[in-house]
Amino acid sequence: MDTIITMPGHLITIEQAGIERCTAIIEWARRFRNRDAVPSQPPGTVALAFFEPSTRTRMSFEVAAAMLGARTVGFTTSGSSIEKGESFEDTIATIEALGAEAIVLRHSASDAAERAAAIATRAIIINAGDGMHQHPTQALLDAMTLLDTFGTLEKRRIAFIGDVLHSRVFRSGYTLFRMLGAEIGVCAPPLLRSGHLPLDMVELSDARAALKWADAVVVLRLQRERMQSGLVPSLADYRQRWAVRIADVEENSCYVLHPGPVNAGVELDAAVVDHARSLIRRQVTNGVFVRVAVLVEALGIPVVQPSSVVT
Ligand code: NCD
Repeated sequence: MDTIITMPGHLITIEQAGIERCTAIIEWARRFRNRDAVPSQPPGTVALAFFEPSTRTRMSFEVAAAMLGARTVGFTTSGSSIEKGESFEDTIATIEALGAEAIVLRHSASDAAERAAAIATRAIIINAGDGMHQHPTQALLDAMTLLDTFGTLEKRRIAFIGDVLHSRVFRSGYTLFRMLGAEIGVCAPPLLRSGHLPLDMVELSDARAALKWADAVVVLRLQRERMQSGLVPSLADYRQRWAVRIADVEENSCYVLHPGPVNAGVELDAAVVDHARSLIRRQVTNGVFVRVAVLVEALGIPVVQPSSVVT
């Protein structure tokens, strides 16, 4: 029998989505990965509106849309009418008028996804990272990867290491992992910590301490594109205390995640990426299935059991 996943609307923040929607998306992503559920009809047009650079997020949405048989229309700031002075609002309204059913949006402004949702009359807005605010599909794929590894996040210790101040990956991940029952640790240079950090986090003095304390660490890139100069004295100085070293990974039983792009030799040693306890490649693969699930859910595509698919 067909199951129609309900269309709960825009995906802007983890808070708004709530625990039920998030766990449902992860469950669907797993079923699509295991091929025990298949979308039964292709969606229409999915627009990829990327006002900021991206490799993984953009390509995994593209792969996910292709797996669903959707038509994608691409968009990057360079080469578009943004360069001719078109406003953000006009661009979103134009993409919608072109017939896009979903607009996957990445932007450097922290309120961009909310603003797009306020303009859109029919299209579903999927936040693929807005400034320093949120990156809900990253949180979902990180949670899926951690759940694959641990079964449950209840009482599991997850630490974020690095530039939490500028990190939408931290803000959305923190919320989702807490909702799933994890304890959160934070390990960041004083000038790269937000003034509004949640109070229920364990403070960790350096990367070595984080690897000792945590069951898994999420290593964050220094977001130099969002940084005022002078927040980090020097990269050598940063590495000294905050980089994840291969020797520390080997000494502990902690797993390592990183949303990418990795700056090997800065926030972690290159050898960490391919270590047996690195989950970095699995994050990328899970990212495709999470995005399939998000599109299926957002567009209300009927899902069937493979045995009931007529070939
Ligand atoms: C992250 C992002 O863009 O927020 N990367 C990603 O989506 N894979 C993290 C980052 O850029 O450092």
